[in-house]
Amino acid sequence: MRNVLITGGAGFIGSNFVRQLLSEEPELQIINLDALTYAGSLENLKELPDPGRHTFLEGDICDRGFVNRLVEERSIDTIVHFAAETHVDRSIRGPAQFVETNVLGTFSLLEAARAVWLDKKRLPPDQVRFLHVSSDEVYGSLDADAPAFTENTSYSPNSPYAASKAASDHIVRAYEHTYGLPTLITNCSNNYGPFQFPEKLVPLLILNSISGLPLPIYGDGKQVRDWLYVEDHCEALLLVLRAGRIGETYNIGGNAQHTNLEVAQRVCSVLDDLISDSPHVPHGSLIQLVEDRPGHDRRYAMDIGKIGRELGWQPRHALEEGLQETVEWYIKNPLWATAARKTPEYQAWLRLNYALRGEVP
Ligand code: NAD
Ligand code: TYD
Repeated sequence: MRNVLITGGAGFIGSNFVRQLLSEEPELQIINLDALTYAGSLENLKELPDPGRHTFLEGDICDRGFVNRLVEERSIDTIVHFAAETHVDRSIRGPAQFVETNVLGTFSLLEAARAVWLDKKRLPPDQVRFLHVSSDEVYGSLDADAPAFTENTSYSPNSPYAASKAASDHIVRAYEHTYGLPTLITNCSNNYGPFQFPEKLVPLLILNSISGLPLPIYGDGKQVRDWLYVEDHCEALLLVLRAGRIGETYNIGGNAQHTNLEVAQRVCSVLDDLISDSPHVPHGSLIQLVEDRPGHDRRYAMDIGKIGRELGWQPRHALEEGLQETVEWYIKNPLWATAARKTPEYQAWLRLNYALRGEVP
């Protein structure tokens, strides 16, 4: 890895990965391509370690001419593809952008890699890699006692978001199979941690609790997710990049299955300890069950045996530990959260998503 193109590196996981990559790999150069949609921010890229090796470019992965030139002119040898529309609730309200970015954007990157690496032979195939970062949601929903998803579980995506990620996975796989493009796919469970945009469950719970606003929990709150601290995800991605077998898929998860209500209660109890003088203690009293998400998947769980056996990866943070660090980060960075939450776009989203559920958090 010399010249690494990171797409979506101004978003949540991408920006955490940029930090980790700069710390762990002292030689390489990063080109960070991000369209700075509502979910991306240059605030996520402040105080990087060794910033001289990081170049930010504002641009759209769907712009095929631009992406082609970028891969060629910057001698990109590694692509780590995070850029996507990522919020399930938004995909229900407006699926078009998900198909555009997640399906066609991935196609555009694959075409650039194929043209420059394989057709023009600018670099030998054993010196290039395309890592596609995907989701556990492609596998569908599990019954309470069903075994966790493995890499061989059939795809059964239920939301427009999950379907768009599934489609992109299939195209990546086809490029490896048909053209021999050196690809890797990772499917990961729900992340949480610093720099996550406030619309997602964990930051929403933290920030609403601090402000004494209702904590909206969809349906009965017994939906199970397999929660993973973002730093652990980034470590797994780096291992896959360094040592993953080309053409393979690796499942990544936290071995931490919890209901949404449990996560909410845990966030509230961390806050009760950290800001015990708040007028909103006990924060748990802010929890409110609201109207469910349409088609809400009941349970996700990841079998992480393969990445453990092949690459020796294990999550390092239990949920309690990761949530403690996350809550502390949001308390220490109030300006970051305020900037993300005060935009008219975000306020409009809150009205759209929550007003009909009976709550405007
Ligand atoms: P995010 O929404 O925080 O960030 C996405 C980033 O992509 C933003 O910076 C945005 O500006 C950028 N982007 C969007 N459209 C773009 C375009 N057309 N061109 C260039 N940049 C564009 O997302 P995240 O939570 O960091 O997720 C990153 C990746 O990881 C996604 O592919 C997602 O599907 C996957 N993933 C996320 C989770 C999770 O829990 N967050 C879990 C598993 C997999
Ligand atoms: P989310 O963070 O949107 O991730 P995903 O839908 O990709 O799993 O949601 C995590 C879980 O939390 C999911 O079961 C939906 C639920 N949820 C709520 O109960 N209330 C909310 O306000 C939000 C945003 C999510």
